[in-house]
Amino acid sequence: MSEGRAAVSAGDVPVTDAATDAAIVGAFDDSLSAAATQADAALGGLLSEMRDAREIRGSFAERTVIHTLGRLPARRLLVLGLGKPAQLDGFRLHNAFHFAGATLRKQGVRSVTAYVPEEAIAVAGDGTTAAARAVATGILLGNFEGDLNKSERDPDTAIDSVVVAGVGHNGAIEAALREATVLADATNLTRRWAAMPSNTLTPRLLAESARTLYQGTGLEVEVLEKADLEREGMGGLLGVARGSDEPPVMIIVRYDGGRPDGPRLALVGKGITFDTGGISLKSAGGMELMKFDMGGGAAVLAAMRAIAALRPAANVVAVVPATENMPGGHAYKPGDVLTTSAGKTIEVTNTDAEGRIILADGLSKARRLGATHIVDTATLTGACVVALGHVTTGLMTNDRALAAMVQGAADAAGDRVAELPMFPEYDVCLRSDVADMKNTAGREGGTINAAVFLREYVEDLPWVHLDIAGSGWNDQSDQTQIPKGPSGTPARTLVHLATAFASL
Ligand code: BES
Ligand code: MN
Ligand code: ZN
Repeated sequence: MSEGRAAVSAGDVPVTDAATDAAIVGAFDDSLSAAATQADAALGGLLSEMRDAREIRGSFAERTVIHTLGRLPARRLLVLGLGKPAQLDGFRLHNAFHFAGATLRKQGVRSVTAYVPEEAIAVAGDGTTAAARAVATGILLGNFEGDLNKSERDPDTAIDSVVVAGVGHNGAIEAALREATVLADATNLTRRWAAMPSNTLTPRLLAESARTLYQGTGLEVEVLEKADLEREGMGGLLGVARGSDEPPVMIIVRYDGGRPDGPRLALVGKGITFDTGGISLKSAGGMELMKFDMGGGAAVLAAMRAIAALRPAANVVAVVPATENMPGGHAYKPGDVLTTSAGKTIEVTNTDAEGRIILADGLSKARRLGATHIVDTATLTGACVVALGHVTTGLMTNDRALAAMVQGAADAAGDRVAELPMFPEYDVCLRSDVADMKNTAGREGGTINAAVFLREYVEDLPWVHLDIAGSGWNDQSDQTQIPKGPSGTPARTLVHLATAFASL
């Protein structure tokens, strides 16, 4: 299995001098990149010929691998389609190089030199360094193979060295490439956790896995067990967990890099290791995807490891409530009223809206831990998949300034977020006759209703909610511009956000 790790460095060699298993050069729908043009000359016009024949179109994520037969020191050339230059952004840059990395890894390529096209430097955030970071990160994402869980496997293939070229060779680039390895590690860890089946990643095993992976980072981990949750009156998390034989936990991770009296960012992630829907049982078709219902929690836990590696001068605390959502003789039922640790009561109208219930206790815990700002992320609503597909994370907020910081972090990370409104008319939908709030309303505005519910538990703190139900996993067969499977979003966004908090 390849975890996606590789040595990454900057190099200034032109493509006519790069001795490597494979050089990656860009092609746009209307032109070849500068590096591709140089390679074309060395190859006697082969690329131009293929372009004229429409065999290289430069369409987004097109991959054309040719062997150079000694006409270039690189054994292979991968011409990577980048589409229309005006449409290129951080998200597309990451994805294109992710596809390129995956193609080369599968072909057994070990060393890669990637040429950052000038057109990418113009679009990626802070210019050269951001473009270099995006290209390196993308290749490392493509180098991740995931757990195949097969007893008979092809021999392991992995890229072990990546040279990023065309961006100069200086301290800023070196730092950006180091960030790229940390960010790619966090993304790939999120993806690995998200893809793990629920029998190998129970709430406790997730906590243990995080503990193991944090060794040597200086991060402090605390795992609240069932008795602790009872002592804190976390009736939301305990209520959802009732149907499961696996005990629930709340995973808390602290990183204190800022002034003790400075702002404290809380990252709260949904950690449902499997969502059957409970008594409001989901239909069977596609239910296996619900092993990834801890994708938000995974992103938060993976981001913490990256934050500990990059050491921003910020205070960050992670809170991940984790449980299965199961039917059974002890399971919570529609009509039940749960009392959360904030003292607020919930009328359960649908046991499949469990994420918001466990997050209620997670958000309250973040407040009690001294959070000054809260960002939560969750695979929360099917309605978000309907609204935004697998392309975009839904962002909802009660605070413009924090939302702008998250948007900026997402841009730097190459993650896509778009805001859904929280107009006051949405507030009335969750009013309950028997408790403070009910957990579901009708299908209309389902993603926003969920946010209205969560907002009740952040009270007056600035807060952003990121619904990753669609963006966290691409299982749509005709969505071919995004890599299949778990994306790892928004792990990188959370890391960039913590960095931005250092200058608050
Ligand atoms: N985990 C699901 C949401 C989900 C759906 C995530 C598809 C990823 C892909 C969540 O717990 C859920 O079941 N939500 C319900 C809420 C409804 C009962 C109000 C939904 O979206 O159907
Ligand atoms: Mn559910
Ligand atoms: Zn769920």
